[in-house]
Amino acid sequence: MRIGILSSGGDCPGINATIRGIGKTAIMHYNMDVIGIHNGFSGILQKDIRELDERSLSGILNLGGTILGTSREKAFRKLIIPDDSHSSVIKQRCAELALDCIVCIGGNGTQKTSGLLSGIGLNVIGIPKTIDNDVWGTDITFGFDTAVNIATEAIDRLHSTANAHKRVMVVEVMGHHAGWIALYAGMAGGADVILLPELGFDINKVNDAVMDRAHKGKPYSIVVVAEGLRTAGGETRPTGYIAGKIEKETGIETRETVLGYIQRGGNPSPFDRNLATRLGGHASELIARKEFGRMVCMNGNEVGSIPLSEVAGKLKLVPPRHDLIVQGERMGISFGI
Ligand code: F6P
Repeated sequence: MRIGILSSGGDCPGINATIRGIGKTAIMHYNMDVIGIHNGFSGILQKDIRELDERSLSGILNLGGTILGTSREKAFRKLIIPDDSHSSVIKQRCAELALDCIVCIGGNGTQKTSGLLSGIGLNVIGIPKTIDNDVWGTDITFGFDTAVNIATEAIDRLHSTANAHKRVMVVEVMGHHAGWIALYAGMAGGADVILLPELGFDINKVNDAVMDRAHKGKPYSIVVVAEGLRTAGGETRPTGYIAGKIEKETGIETRETVLGYIQRGGNPSPFDRNLATRLGGHASELIARKEFGRMVCMNGNEVGSIPLSEVAGKLKLVPPRHDLIVQGERMGISFGI
């Protein structure tokens, strides 16, 4: 068999580890040919590919980014209309490339596109990846652990400078519409207030938490904000708003930090390397068994797969009574509600 691999959507640490996992398993264990498709789905239309052999898959396990490049696929997704001339072009390109299957590494948008490709009759396997950990149908995505490590280290560092200056530090972490990074890094970093889009927030509760600490002789606080948080009025990027309100209403000097793309770049953690390797290897196994139209996933510590049709259009958000939230509340951490 001849399989094509592409990465699509925002990059994250661990994509190269999974490309290696798919490719080496396919070549060495199943005797398949492996093609790398450049720059996401657009690489199919442009037939922008390269052969991947065992040698070209060596030395990439620990590399951040993706050796194949990536792009957002929305424009491509619009072309996939069943029985339409555009979709026949896509099918024709895959036939010209002699691909028996395409492995699509990506987040929610990519899995949706993969499901549509499967719907027009192409053999597709999805591999979930994102630092946001918000892909429905899998307990965890690779990239998340690395991002949580980076954000936790940043929060650790903010503690000492906040303490030295007796300031409130408001730090914004990524996560798109989900609060997974904020919850896990906030808890691991010992934040005093953690604000998640899933819970919303009341600025008075945030100020109360900061003042409560001040009254207890703790003159500094760390407030972790998920980027997807919205104010009651629906305004985006409330980090500056929150920092401004805290300073004005508590009288404590407050600074803001937006971590941004630092959370997405660089080497994957050992956990993410192994997770990505397992998911990649399982994708090749599914292809060998001709079980197409599926996304590989983690159920607890077990690797499995689910139909792509079940994944499309859903988001995995933090459950409001997540164990870490309940535990945090019991220990006096404020979730701003
Ligand atoms: O999905 C990963 C992510 O980094 C989100 O956390 C963030 O909202 C988004 O991508 C940023 O995307 P872009 O690369 O389009 O700026």
